[in-house]
Amino acid sequence: MAQRLAAWTQVTKRSALQDMLELTSGPEYISFGLGLPSTECFPAEQLARSAGEVLQQSDHLQYGPPTERLKQQIQRLMSQRGVQCSTSQIFLTAGAQQGINLLARLLLDPGRTILAEEVTYTGFLQVVEPFQPRILTVPTDPVMGIDVEQVEMVLQAGERPACMYVIPSGHNPLSYTLSREKRQKLAQLAADYEVPIIEDDPYGFLAYEDSEIPAVKSFQPDWVYYVGSFSKILAPGLRLGWIVAGGEIVEKLSIVKEAADINTGTLTQQITANFLQKDEFTDHLQHLRREYRSRRNCMIDHLCTQMGDYASWTIPSSGLFIWVRFPESVNTMELFRESVTTEKVTFFPGNVFAATQSQMAASSARLNFSFNNHDKIEEGIARLSRLVKRHRK
Ligand SMILES: Cc1ncc(COP(=O)(O)O)c(C=O)c1O
Repeated sequence: MAQRLAAWTQVTKRSALQDMLELTSGPEYISFGLGLPSTECFPAEQLARSAGEVLQQSDHLQYGPPTERLKQQIQRLMSQRGVQCSTSQIFLTAGAQQGINLLARLLLDPGRTILAEEVTYTGFLQVVEPFQPRILTVPTDPVMGIDVEQVEMVLQAGERPACMYVIPSGHNPLSYTLSREKRQKLAQLAADYEVPIIEDDPYGFLAYEDSEIPAVKSFQPDWVYYVGSFSKILAPGLRLGWIVAGGEIVEKLSIVKEAADINTGTLTQQITANFLQKDEFTDHLQHLRREYRSRRNCMIDHLCTQMGDYASWTIPSSGLFIWVRFPESVNTMELFRESVTTEKVTFFPGNVFAATQSQMAASSARLNFSFNNHDKIEEGIARLSRLVKRHRK
């Protein structure tokens, strides 16, 4: 059987960590591992009401073209990210993951080069794997973010990757939010060297401080393809996201999308459009930001009291993660294995996200702060610190 599969599948493998996380999903475990939004924060009642209204019309269960009403709502949302676009530039997808996937299929020929950070979202690496690309990595950092000067040097040296992949707000996993200046510079580089950027922005609406930084796309409408998602700001079960790109790209995307899954679920689109139309979304988003800010602060407070003298981190101004750096001698993959068996706490060892060998990643851990309530966060950090103390001896 294996011989009949495409060549790239022979080298791909499911990570042992993924298996481990599935095995450890029982109630006795505290999970800081997956990037789950808070279940209590889903606006289930309002969505149920929307669904009830939508189901009064049975044609909402039919195959269907993208819902214009929803695209208009997204157009309004995009202006909050500093992006002015027409509804014809908005393309609906089954989540950001599909957005990245469809764009990669449009941009990549097998064996081409792509530019990514040394430490990046694994879902992107999985998307490009079938194309067996050459992955050109640039340094990145949990404080300063992607090294834009290095990007410029690479392009100046003559490299012309098929695309650059970035997560400028609430980076997964490093948790940084890129400065306005670096965004401007990146956008300029994309235009100057004619290398498109995939801007993956599922956390862009989850800003916890007052100042919101506009999307990279707001600085360069032509060379940046924006990928958005309702997963972290509404509910991932909806499987709904979008791309903002030029008309020509949108036309091609619709061809690739039709081949993939015909159309984004009509029911989901209508339910979401109904919900957004009622203007409850603004309150919901504010509530979400308040709640996540407070969970973030709770985790930071407990990290400070329990591990402040040993590990370091920055306070994320967006997103769902805290990137914890331990001394270089610590191997967080080993820490993870022990944590699962002795303390029943899960997290992601940094190495999982390394597109290339990274000492910084190998001694770091990604902790999610959105999923658990304050009590669980306190208990989980106490258990982790017990483990870390044993390690230090
Ligand atoms: C950076 C990034 N991109 C894309 C996704 C996928 O999101 P979606 O549920 O919208 O497909 C995630 C999910 O965690 C993510 O962190």
